[in-house]
Amino acid sequence: MNMGTMMNRGEPNDLAAFWMPFTDNRGFKANPRMFVAADGMHYTAAAGHKVLDATGGLWCVNAGHNRAPIVEAVRKAAGELDFAPTFQLAHPRAFETASRLAMLMPEGLDRIFFTNSGSESVDTALKIALAYQRSIGQGSRTRLIGRERGYHGVGFGGISVGGIVGNRRQFGTLLTGVDHLRHTHDPARNAYSRGQPAHGADLAEDLERLVALHGAETIAAVIVEPVAGSTGVLVPPQGYLQRLRQICDAHGILLIFDEVITAFGRVGKATAAERFGVTPDLITMAKGLTNAAVPMGAVAARREVHDAIVDNAAPGIELFHGYTYSGHPLACAAALATFDLYAAEDLFERAIALEDYWADAVHSLKGAPHVIDCRSIGLIGGIELEPRPAAPTKRAMEVFHKAFDAGLLVRVTGDIIALSPPLILEKTHIDEIFGKLSDLLRTVS
Ligand SMILES: Cc1ncc(COP(=O)(O)O)c(C=O)c1O
Repeated sequence: MNMGTMMNRGEPNDLAAFWMPFTDNRGFKANPRMFVAADGMHYTAAAGHKVLDATGGLWCVNAGHNRAPIVEAVRKAAGELDFAPTFQLAHPRAFETASRLAMLMPEGLDRIFFTNSGSESVDTALKIALAYQRSIGQGSRTRLIGRERGYHGVGFGGISVGGIVGNRRQFGTLLTGVDHLRHTHDPARNAYSRGQPAHGADLAEDLERLVALHGAETIAAVIVEPVAGSTGVLVPPQGYLQRLRQICDAHGILLIFDEVITAFGRVGKATAAERFGVTPDLITMAKGLTNAAVPMGAVAARREVHDAIVDNAAPGIELFHGYTYSGHPLACAAALATFDLYAAEDLFERAIALEDYWADAVHSLKGAPHVIDCRSIGLIGGIELEPRPAAPTKRAMEVFHKAFDAGLLVRVTGDIIALSPPLILEKTHIDEIFGKLSDLLRTVS
């Protein structure tokens, strides 16, 4: 008798078995909200109403939902080659995808390692950084530096360099040899900044403090999000990323930009590195890489980093790292179709063209009930609410639920409403998003 089957048998529509990620499972299951379809700028909720997607799913559906060229490419690929290993074997589309992706990256970052998610990209980049330092005779450089309030996914590497306490406290001692820069959020000086805040370049000097504390010869890499998303839309102060680059260069430290949310047009260019004019040594990506149609992530490495690891290795495998699904055929098909769509519809430029209109709309919420800061860059918006006394995050969560019921998908993190719509949106959508938000803010206490 199969006891497992007997004991675990549930009703087909039972909500119990799916242990939902980053979710208040009890709250959700008491009052489920589900999507059953999507098209362009909208989801269709199970209850039947349309929901305007102001968050591109989870910052990932940059070209809008269910786009025909991507759907067709995946459908076709699924019938041709369902899977091929990329360990000691490969398939042509993996090479084509890497070459095309390299063309979107800042000059020099033209070696691509494929993963399946942002978290895997982060752990891959951290491992590449360590392997690189070792390959050039700098094996004492094992320390990794992240930043307070950073989000780098949920792998042990990512939560170790990450700086969101809620994502760390349940999980023990994490990686050793990690330290953190101070975060750049400074509402006292920078509240209601449009684009890059004026104050805070000096915070990059914190890296000098860590170098003085630990010794440069112990530090392998620094990882930051150029625009921090999950911690509530923190735009880098003017000059901050440039200064980080300078300090890394001065001390032989690799600079990693985690561009899981910023790559692929979100800030008006293929990468935030290009937008801000600062070239890191490694870039992590996922999300918009395939328009989220098939899970895929990637790390772009500066050629010298790749070459040092590959050329200095003994004959045989050079980097003992990889995933069964690195360069999966369906993901490659989705990525290639996505790149074509981004180019055909000029979607990165579209984000620039709409940036001012978007920023005006974001900042129109200044003075709305509970709002204490508005931040914007590219097609990203952050609206920070005053926390309820003794009940932080509750007010924003109420806005989230009410927005869904009113046909608008927003994202909340802490007491911050974070917006990142598909880049295909029209001005009428922007008006609808902020019209609804403005009304909703009046309905919450
Ligand atoms: C900057 C950043 N890095 C990493 C991740 C993790 O990506 P994933 O959820 O695909 O593992 C995210 C996800 O939101 C992210 O915003």
